[in-house]
Amino acid sequence: MKPMIDIVLTSCAESEVGDTAKQSDSDRRISSLADVGCDHGMLGISLATTSWVTQQQYIKLDEDKENTSHNDNNNRSKSISNGISFFPPTRIFGTDLSSMALENGGLVSLKKINEAMMPLSRFDNDLPIVFHVGDGLKPLQKGEADAIILAGMGIMTMMDILKDDVDRVHAKRIFVQPTNSRPQHLIMLYEKLQQSSEWMLRDETISYLGGRWYINAYFERYSGDADENSFRFPGHFLIHSDTEEAIDAYNSYVKHHLRWLKEDFERPKCVLEDEDKRWLEYIQSAEENAQWKVLSSWYSQ
Ligand SMILES: C[S@@+](CC[C@H](N)C(=O)[O-])C[C@H]1O[C@@H](n2cnc3c(N)ncnc32)[C@H](O)[C@@H]1O
Repeated sequence: MKPMIDIVLTSCAESEVGDTAKQSDSDRRISSLADVGCDHGMLGISLATTSWVTQQQYIKLDEDKENTSHNDNNNRSKSISNGISFFPPTRIFGTDLSSMALENGGLVSLKKINEAMMPLSRFDNDLPIVFHVGDGLKPLQKGEADAIILAGMGIMTMMDILKDDVDRVHAKRIFVQPTNSRPQHLIMLYEKLQQSSEWMLRDETISYLGGRWYINAYFERYSGDADENSFRFPGHFLIHSDTEEAIDAYNSYVKHHLRWLKEDFERPKCVLEDEDKRWLEYIQSAEENAQWKVLSSWYSQ
């Protein structure tokens, strides 16, 4: 099962995939990232640690390769671990409404990690993370976040945070993990982002933890022809996942929500929400799993 950090780092892979082949690597690259609503800052600290360790590796590589220039940022920022080149963000921000969360969490951890890591450092620097107290994206300066993470909050809070400042901070990638992964909620969020073809769904992962499903997704700014950017339903990438584990988890998620919706539907005077109806129609039309058609046959359009 994959946590949020996995989809973030995977999205930083160098190789071009699928429908963004038109965009160059440098257009897609993210060098700064803000975890908004970071609470104790653990995700941001993990990302900053990955970035820090990667930078140490580059310096080691530079030292090992006499003919590699120390000033060649391109070579420095390319990790060759596992044969995959990726560009982890080199500036991380953690923001939260709660000063207590940051004071008792992120800042304490950061101080301890910096103290522990300093003797290992090949250059004199701390983890590349800064914490700010404040509402949504407001604590960030203009152009300061190529990517935004919104995790562990409801879709209404997410949409509220995204409504004003996304352009001001120059975000080109948005990662989301809503607390409630009910299809109806996901469709509302995906609709909001994909409307006007502004953002395009680029990848999803699914995790089942403590009796709940968590869906991580990320969207990228779409700069192509609006007609080509048709709405992608929640689960678009999970249906076609290349791992059995994800396909099985998504299958269980779908079956769970079909059962749940059926129970709702059978209650007297129940009226399904439009998003629930859209999801049911989508699931019925999915050719990947014939069972879903049978399990949703109680609903007809
Ligand atoms: C349940 S925690 C999730 C923490 C972390 N992102 C995670 O996924 O584990 C939600 C956090 O979002 C913060 N939050 C809620 N609304 C916010 C807003 N408008 N701006 C910044 N932080 C916010 C809360 O203070 C809280 O720390």
